[in-house]
Amino acid sequence: METRIIAINKSESPAAILEKLSQAGRIIRQGGLVAFPTETVYGLGGDALNPEAAHKIYAAKGRPSDNPLIVHIAHISSLDRLVGGIPEKAKKLAQAFWPGPLTMIMNKSGMVPYQTTGGLDTVAVRLPSHPIALEFIRQAGGYVAAPSANISGRPSPTEAKYVVQDMGGRIDMILAVDGNEGVIGLESTIVDMTVDVPMILRPGYITQAMISQEIGETDIDATIFDAASDKAPKAPGMKYRHYAPKGELVIVEGNPEDVVAYINQQARLHRDKGEKTGVIGTDTLVTKYDADIVKNAGSRSEPLMAANRLYTFLREFDDEKVEFMYSEAFSNDGLEQAIMNRLLKAAGHKIIKV
Ligand code: TXA
Ligand code: MG
Repeated sequence: METRIIAINKSESPAAILEKLSQAGRIIRQGGLVAFPTETVYGLGGDALNPEAAHKIYAAKGRPSDNPLIVHIAHISSLDRLVGGIPEKAKKLAQAFWPGPLTMIMNKSGMVPYQTTGGLDTVAVRLPSHPIALEFIRQAGGYVAAPSANISGRPSPTEAKYVVQDMGGRIDMILAVDGNEGVIGLESTIVDMTVDVPMILRPGYITQAMISQEIGETDIDATIFDAASDKAPKAPGMKYRHYAPKGELVIVEGNPEDVVAYINQQARLHRDKGEKTGVIGTDTLVTKYDADIVKNAGSRSEPLMAANRLYTFLREFDDEKVEFMYSEAFSNDGLEQAIMNRLLKAAGHKIIKV
């Protein structure tokens, strides 16, 4: 299949951008697939109300079809038709965090095909804040099912070039914006609103503390941090090994000097065997690592930078053919919790405490 790559620049006139988005919208309404930017990661969009489109999305990603899709809307009023009743707490969270990087799970209405929800009676809904995403969803008819626009198992794409790498030749169109400034870089926070005490199924930029401040008590799915748990995660997609680079990634936790010493020792051992090593570190430590490639995740006081760059680092390590990767650990607080969650998944939960 030939994929049309449509570049969208900030300097273009609103009319020129609208014309492009209207073409993209037409593709969705005709049952095709279009990748589009959001404030979290690029999405791979299809008509959420068309079972055939869901089928095409699973095929393009190489994704198991029991893994449900998020339905993206552009107006809060679209929610009524998707769900069978909006819980009061969901109204509060929508008020506080939409448009934005929050996905809520509610009981689905008859309008949403089971192909979109992976056979579940619930549906995940998100109202993104990215202006291109919003206009695209409107042009597409208002209901766009979209997983992240990566091949299943690879890091989610935070830049257009990675969407082209993964989806080129597999879908009808890619809406490619310049750079990824202001992009969060990790997928939305997912909260299950179908239970009395809403439960966070995937941590993200909207933290548990922020959510609890609006609606009181919340839970967090314990399987997120406990690799040894024999329970299945509540978000079916969280059970798959994700974001995995081709080489081996290990997270190293401990006080900074010990972390640096351990990683440098490992890098030396690898070097002696002719193996290439990469490190993800924060700004006060990066100059201390003696590895082949060292990535700077920025300051711990501004974790948004690490979030924005993490998936790019993992993809760059692949391109640079790095065989062994080490990353500093992040905390279990605020946005760092989401970063650590994705790192743990990428590392297959390999963590060394020094
Ligand atoms: O930021 C995001 O959420 C991005 C952008 C494109 O909006 N989308 C995204 O979609 O990350 P995806 O498909 O890569 O991840 C969706 C996750 C999966 O883990 C899936 O299992 C879970 O949401 N999910 C979707 N519907 C669900 C449902 N009804 N119940 C439980 N989990 C659900
Ligand atoms: Mg994904």
